[in-house]
Amino acid sequence: MTSASSTSHDPAAAIVTGAGAGIGQAAARMLNARGHRVLAVDVSADALAWTADQGGIEAFTADVSSDDDNRAMVAAALERFGRLDVLVLNAGIARRTHWEADDAVEAYDRIMAVNARGVVLGIRHGAPAIAESGGGAIVVVGSTSGVRADPERFAYDASKAAAINTARAAALDWAVRGVRVNVMAPGPTMTAILQGGRVTPEHLDELTRNIPLQRMGTPEEQAEAICFLASPAASFITGAVLMCDGGVTAQAGIFPPPRSG
Ligand SMILES: NC(=O)c1ccc[n+]([C@@H]2O[C@H](COP(=O)([O-])OP(=O)(O)OC[C@H]3O[C@@H](n4cnc5c(N)ncnc54)[C@H](O)[C@@H]3O)[C@@H](O)[C@H]2O)c1
Repeated sequence: MTSASSTSHDPAAAIVTGAGAGIGQAAARMLNARGHRVLAVDVSADALAWTADQGGIEAFTADVSSDDDNRAMVAAALERFGRLDVLVLNAGIARRTHWEADDAVEAYDRIMAVNARGVVLGIRHGAPAIAESGGGAIVVVGSTSGVRADPERFAYDASKAAAINTARAAALDWAVRGVRVNVMAPGPTMTAILQGGRVTPEHLDELTRNIPLQRMGTPEEQAEAICFLASPAASFITGAVLMCDGGVTAQAGIFPPPRSG
């Protein structure tokens, strides 16, 4: 797969944030398997150890909530690959938040800094580099929680809504320079992040029953949706939100979906 508007014969280049685990790691592997050189970015250097034996995938440690780190991340991709075609803004954190908790404000600020400001900063530094490379695509990883709200997660819900509308705004501002910006919004997916909300096995069972497709998604299914939006197959799609959620957000939520078994 190459970028929609590659202008040179260099292989396409991508950055994936939060590539140390879960959906980001799956997306980095898939983009690489489909012809991209990939800068795999994570706040945890240890989490990037898996890249060591992967030709075509290079590790870069950065905190997406930092403006300087985002600038350095994009500079590293340009230095190593000579171009930037695809930027996947996937890094995110989740945890329960309670309105009256002592740490409510601190938790809100940190979740917003990573999930919302991180998207702003990634676009701020990445979009000009993509435009200068001849155009390409940014995929923001949102969430069902950005279009609906979940209980006891007001900070996460707010951060993902902000990420989604930031992507729409960026789609408008960067279209003229050949940069498409879309959101891939996952529903419940088997990764470590669910533990951040301290999801118990009982919660997991209940959660699965409320997914119309009756199962959790996999990181690879999310990566497929990311790769689609990043690819020339999506060349007329910008400002869109692609739900990859097993039908979760199709529901009004008043009646539970028909269940198997
Ligand atoms: N798994 C789900 O059910 C689910 C559902 C909806 C949305 N999402 C979203 O998908 C994205 C990926 O989630 P996941 O389930 O793969 O999570 P994960 O916890 O498995 O992986 C997230 C990665 O991001 C990294 N990270 C965290 N903070 C960072 C920072 N400040 N800078 C750089 N890297 C950072 C972590 O170290 C980790 O390697 C997130 O944005 C998440 O909100 C996940």
